[in-house]
Amino acid sequence: MAENMLKDVLAKYKIIPVLVLNDLQSGMERCRLLCENFLPVAEITFRTQAAESIIRQVTKELPQMFVGAGTILNVNDLHRAFDAGAKFAVAPGFNPVVVKEAIKHNYAFAPGVCTPSEIEQAYDLGCRFFKFFPAEAAGGVKMLGAISAPYKHLGISFMPTGGVTIDNAADYLAMPEVAAAGGTWLNKADGEGIRLAAKKAGLI
Ligand code: 3PG
Repeated sequence: MAENMLKDVLAKYKIIPVLVLNDLQSGMERCRLLCENFLPVAEITFRTQAAESIIRQVTKELPQMFVGAGTILNVNDLHRAFDAGAKFAVAPGFNPVVVKEAIKHNYAFAPGVCTPSEIEQAYDLGCRFFKFFPAEAAGGVKMLGAISAPYKHLGISFMPTGGVTIDNAADYLAMPEVAAAGGTWLNKADGEGIRLAAKKAGLI
């Protein structure tokens, strides 16, 4: 399903900027800066009104960018994101209604999990790739190692976000079950900071 493709594509970028963008103009500037500095990927969160229009504009103006939507809390958000051109979507939590709708439309969607029960319920619906959120507050690398251990034979993988920074991203990326790690620090990073992340991700 689309979700497996998502895991493979995000694994190529490894570090995923989680963007909270307030308006179209500054949002596009941030996306251009990411592209110019070798990290052409982002989760643009639906925490702001501008998210949908930025995704639509990125799709037109920066087709090389692998742009997705974050903070997808309901079916309406899900459709708005993919109609705008999002190539993937994620959520902080596990909402079975959203997961089922994503599967029905073959949308690349990863729900958020941080407990074994959520993993099992989402797995049962067909999910194989999860956002692990809030990664650091939930116990970080140690917690992810512990909760994923019983499911190793299922071949599931994770994208941790929440407290991930340039300093600890490598610890997560060293785990075999981690495909990519995301964080909001790339909202503020300058070109050099973005290139540092791209370097850590092995993109340059
Ligand atoms: C997310 O939506 O993934 C988180 O808000 C990212 O958390 P961070 O600000 O700690 O990177």
